[in-house]
Order: sequence, then C-alpha cells, then structure tokens
Amino acid sequence: MKVGIMGCGSIANTLVNFKLEDKLNIDFASFYDLDKDSAEELAIKVDSKVANSLDELIESSELILECASQGAVRTSIPQILESGTNVIIMSVGALLDTDFKTQIENIAKDNGAKIYLPTGAITGIDTVKAAKMGEIKSVSLTTRKPPVSLGLDSNIKSEKIIFEGKASDAVNKFPKNINVSSTLSLASGIDADVTIIADPNIQNNTHEIHIKGTFGELVTITSNVSSPDNPKTSLLAAYSAASLLNKLSETIQIGS
Ligand SMILES: NC(=O)c1ccc[n+]([C@@H]2O[C@H](COP(=O)([O-])OP(=O)(O)OC[C@H]3O[C@@H](n4cnc5c(N)ncnc54)[C@H](O)[C@@H]3O)[C@@H](O)[C@H]2O)c1
Repeated sequence: MKVGIMGCGSIANTLVNFKLEDKLNIDFASFYDLDKDSAEELAIKVDSKVANSLDELIESSELILECASQGAVRTSIPQILESGTNVIIMSVGALLDTDFKTQIENIAKDNGAKIYLPTGAITGIDTVKAAKMGEIKSVSLTTRKPPVSLGLDSNIKSEKIIFEGKASDAVNKFPKNINVSSTLSLASGIDADVTIIADPNIQNNTHEIHIKGTFGELVTITSNVSSPDNPKTSLLAAYSAASLLNKLSETIQIGS
C-alpha cells in the first residue's frame, strides 16, 4: 500500500525509522509538510519524494496518514476524502466537533473512503468498543504529564491540576496534548470527564482510564515514554499508527 504522510514531525520520524528497520509493511508514497525541509529530510531517508501540494500528496497516495495538527485535519481531510482516498487521523481532537465529524463522515460515505482513528497512547480501545455494545455509564481519564510536556514552566515544584472538565473542552484548550480523550470519547460514545495534572515528579506521560457499564468496570494505566523529538507526543502514539498501518494488510486481524 502506498501511504502519503501529512506532517513530518515526531510521529512521521518514528514511522520512517520503523520502515528502515523493516517493521512496516507499507511503501511511502510521498511526504507533505508546511515546512518543506522536514518533508525532504524524511523522503530522502526512505528514497521517497516530497509532495509540493495537497493535490500532489493525494495523487500519489492510496492512503494518507495525517500526523500534523487539528488545523490540518479541518482544512485538508475533506478534500482528501472527496478524492476517495482513505485516511488515518492522528489529530483526533478535531473530531469532537460534532458538525465537522458528521461532515467528513458524509463525504467519506459519498466517495467510498474510510477514516481510521488509531488507539493512540492509551490502552484498550477495543475493550471500550466491546463495552459499548452494552451500556456505558461513565468514562473518566486522568492524564499526568511533566510540566514541560504541557508547555508549562519547568519550575513548578508540586503537582497542579490544570484542567477539569469534558473532553470536548479539553481538546480545544490543549490541542496538542489530549487527543486520547477524543479517541476515548468517540469509542465510548460519552464525552469523557477529563483531569489534566502537571506533575514535576514524573517523567512519563500517564493516562489513567476508569469506565463503568453493564459489562462491569475497567481501569487501565498507561505510562508513556515521550517521543525524543516532541515531549508532548508519546512514543506509543506513533507505535499505534504503525501497528494500524500493518493491520490493514494483515491476513489474521487481532482485536476488534
Ligand atoms: N491520537 C493520539 O493519540 C496522538 C498522540 C500524539 C500526538 N497526536 C497528534 O498527532 C499530530 C502530530 O504529532 P507530532 O508529535 O508528530 O507533531 P510534530 O509537531 O512533531 O509534527 C507536526 C508536523 O506537522 C506539520 N504541520 C502542521 N500543520 C500542517 C499542515 N496544515 N499541513 C502540513 N503539515 C503541517 C508541522 O510543520 C510539523 O512538521 C499532532 O496534532 C498531535 O497532537 C495524536
């Protein structure tokens, strides 16, 4: 499968490294970034090419992986889907805007395209989807990050709650940090209760999920190593995109 990359930052870098380590069963069609140098840097590593425009990216790709920004999702995903090209969206926060989500869902249906949302840097989205077959009564997410991962002063001495509210609000206030709350909300059908804590005593980005429903109760904790290129992004997010890319061509598909 020929995959085009939109956004050539930390996630794209990890994917390129996986390809170089022969762990990714795809070919890179082309690389696109507002910063052309970033695109060129990655394209050279895997003997691929730079797309000079969104049109060029679309023309060269069977599937496009967005790993850029919520803004890129809003401005580019409708056009990509209109061309009938499948997409994987990493900046999932943009989809908690219900009108936008409905708009792109309709465009995808009309043009025979699919929209894939990877699990990202949390545990158990397949379980959440299964739980939703019954009734889910509550969903909460507590995210702890070192202050620097939240773009805050590194001099913060003790832990500090910096957000309490709904996921739909969190993704607007922290567009680069809390995509997982969006994936969790979309999978569960409930606008999750989110708490974000800046914690100077931890190194890893930690996501703790509590869900109650007719199935029983689920508690997960994921302690994530940050990407070396971007402390806001957990390595597991890129691993999850890579795993989804491989899954699309696997004969035996594990997990719902
Ligand atoms: N779903 C998840 O669990 C999850 C986890 C981590 C990060 N993310 C999201 O994935 C996205 C990428 O993360 P990253 O760490 O690789 O980011 P990054 O900042 O390292 O790289 C993003 C790249 O995209 C480029 N870009 C931004 N807007 C663009 C546009 N409109 N068109 C083309 N290129 C554009 C930037 O120039 C940059 O090179 C972010 O939105 C991030 O919030 C999602």
